Amino acid sequence: MSSQVFRPRANSIAHMTIIAIAVLPLTVGLAIASLSRSPANTKVNVAKNQPVPFSHQHHTWELGIDCRYCHTSVEKSSFAGIPPTETCMSCHSQIWTNSPLLQPIHDSWDTGTPIKWNKVNKLPDFVFFNHSIHVNRGLNCNTCHGPMQDEHITAKGNAFQMSWCLDCHRAPDRYLGWNKDIAKENPGLTPREMAFKLYWKLQEKGKGDLSQVETELINGHFMGSDHAEDREAGKEIVAKLGIKVQQLADCSVCHR
Ligand code: HEC
Ligand code: HEC
Ligand code: HEC
Ligand code: HEC
Ligand code: HEC
Repeated sequence: MSSQVFRPRANSIAHMTIIAIAVLPLTVGLAIASLSRSPANTKVNVAKNQPVPFSHQHHTWELGIDCRYCHTSVEKSSFAGIPPTETCMSCHSQIWTNSPLLQPIHDSWDTGTPIKWNKVNKLPDFVFFNHSIHVNRGLNCNTCHGPMQDEHITAKGNAFQMSWCLDCHRAPDRYLGWNKDIAKENPGLTPREMAFKLYWKLQEKGKGDLSQVETELINGHFMGSDHAEDREAGKEIVAKLGIKVQQLADCSVCHR
């Protein structure tokens, strides 16, 4: 194509200048695009300062507390919710009461002033999101939030870029068939129950005994599966739950 644009007598300096000018906006565009994906901007995997150094690793993995004990509305409403001081006090009024790390919790309880947790995950206001629908379709929290059961101080597990949401919305069967082993081991569980069952399977068996997709999920690296068996299982779930894949990537699903 360029051989027709440049006449043979155009000298090489002019040639180079034209190419440089043509290429410059593209380079700047790519630089901005890659900058916007760098961890410095998206804060993926960067622990966020909190008024109390709350550890998911301690409370979920070591103590085995279910996510829903604290994030009570995650399977019922659009929000997962952050637990009130009262939830912490159900244990910490009796245990670890002298820990200086827990002083803000006791102060909050005494004064009735809620703890101001710093938000880790935040979508722009023009994007609509709903927890309950995703959890009820059988998506484990780590698909979107990274390896929560390993985190000492909570970090963002994902940049939540539009292309990432769309990757699943265009082919949800790649993401929904991950639980076929859990389904076989526990007949009768709903997809939602299977999503939480993964944490208990990890508790019982440890990381060594999980399938490849389960391991990817637990480690927060799951990007869908193209294995024939997983997609087959995923397609069955799509059909069973009546998910309308044709419409799932429409702009109006997320921008209303
Ligand atoms: C004992 C209570 C408790 C349990 C159990 C718990 N969490 Fe949390 N979670 C919190 C608190 C408190 C915060 C706010 C402080 C922080 O971000 O660490 C939080 C924050 C989060 C956030 C980030 C919220 C934001 O600001 O964007 C995610 C994601 C999350 N939890 C997921 C989970 C998952 C997944 C589980 C189960 C594996 C779980 N949590 C279990 C108490 C809990
Ligand atoms: C079901 C009981 C239970 C609940 C609910 C609970 N914790 Fe804990 N928490 C514990 C136990 C037990 C430990 C000690 C863990 C260890 O070190 O082995 C602990 C330890 C801690 C520590 C570390 C203290 C230190 O000095 O090392 C912090 C901070 C903490 N919890 C904050 C919270 C917050 C904030 C909440 C509410 C969002 C909460 N916990 C809810 C049982 C609980
Ligand atoms: C399909 C992806 C996805 C799944 C699955 C998911 N989350 Fe989220 N979560 C998000 C997004 C996106 C946000 C930010 C929402 C916003 O800013 O409106 C978020 C925010 C949160 C927050 C911050 C408070 C709130 O209510 O917005 C908590 C806590 C949380 N998630 C916990 C969980 C837990 C626990 C699970 C599993 C039971 C889970 N999430 C499953 C994507 C997901
Ligand atoms: C891993 C797969 C997956 C990811 C990632 C994902 N979704 Fe979804 N989403 C689904 C599925 C499955 C449904 C359910 C469709 C149904 O049942 O009709 C859904 C439904 C929705 C709905 C419809 C809710 C309603 O009330 O109708 C919205 C809005 C939505 N997703 C927003 C998002 C946004 C925004 C993101 C990215 C931050 C996202 N989703 C990431 C799989 C995913
Ligand atoms: C599954 C959910 C989902 C669907 C469907 C979706 N978007 Fe988005 N969109 C998002 C999210 C999430 C963001 C925020 C991205 C960010 O913060 O980086 C976004 C951001 C945007 C932005 C702001 C610029 C940008 O790229 O950040 C525009 C414009 C936009 N979307 C247009 C569209 C159009 C047009 C469609 C239909 C062809 C569409 N979106 C479909 C989730 C979605």
